Amino acid sequence: MKIFIDSGDVGEIREAQAMGAIDGVTTNPSLLAKAGKPTNEVIAEICEIVDGPISAEVIATDTDGILREGRELVKIHPNVVIKVPLIAEGIKAVKTFTDEGIKTNATLCFSAPQALLAAKAGATYVSPFVGRLDDIGVDGMELIEQIVTIYDNYDFETEVLTASVRNTTHFIRAALMGSHVATVPFKVIKQLLEHPLTDKGLAQFLEDAKKIPKS
Ligand code: E4P
Repeated sequence: MKIFIDSGDVGEIREAQAMGAIDGVTTNPSLLAKAGKPTNEVIAEICEIVDGPISAEVIATDTDGILREGRELVKIHPNVVIKVPLIAEGIKAVKTFTDEGIKTNATLCFSAPQALLAAKAGATYVSPFVGRLDDIGVDGMELIEQIVTIYDNYDFETEVLTASVRNTTHFIRAALMGSHVATVPFKVIKQLLEHPLTDKGLAQFLEDAKKIPKS
C-alpha cells in the first residue's frame, strides 16, 4: 500500500520524506489555510520536496470553474493531481480532466455508489473519508471493503485512497483490505513506528552495552 501524507505543512512533509515513508501528498483547503500562504506557493514547495502525486483541491463548485482552477493548478508541476468534490458538477469535470489526461482525486466520498461513479468518470483516485464516517457512528472501513470489492469486480483502474485516517487501526485495516493508498496525517505516520517493546528492548540493549569490555 502506498502512503501519502495528508498535510499542508512543509516542515512535517519534509520530515516524513526524510523517513522514506511517503509516496505522495494530499492537501485540502482546511489544511492549506493553516499554512498561511497562497495555495500555489505551498503546492509548488511541496512538489520540490516529494516526487510523487500531490493532490491540490479546487474551490469552485461549478464545472467550468472547477476546470478553470484545475487547469491552472496543473501548471504548477506535472505531479499535481486535481482534487474534485464528488458532486454532479465535479464528476463532469473529472470526466473532462480524464479526457485531457489530467489526473484527479475524487474527494469527499462517503458511499459506494459515489465511488462507482467516480471510477466510471475515470478518476485516478477516489478518497473515502473513513474517520468522518466513524464520527457519525458508521464504520468507515466497511466502505473501503465495499469499494475495493466493486473495483475488483469490474477491473476499474481508479485507486482507492483511504482518507480521513485517524489512527493506526484505520491504516492496518486499509492495508489488509487492499486499499491502494492511505493518506495519513504526520502524527499517525509517527505512531505507525511506535511500539513499547521496541523502546523497552532498546533501553535494555543500551544498558547491556555498557557491560561490554572495551577493546
Ligand atoms: C483527504 O484527502 C482529506 O484531506 C483528509 O484525509 C480529511 O481528513 P479529516 O477528516 O481528518 O479532516
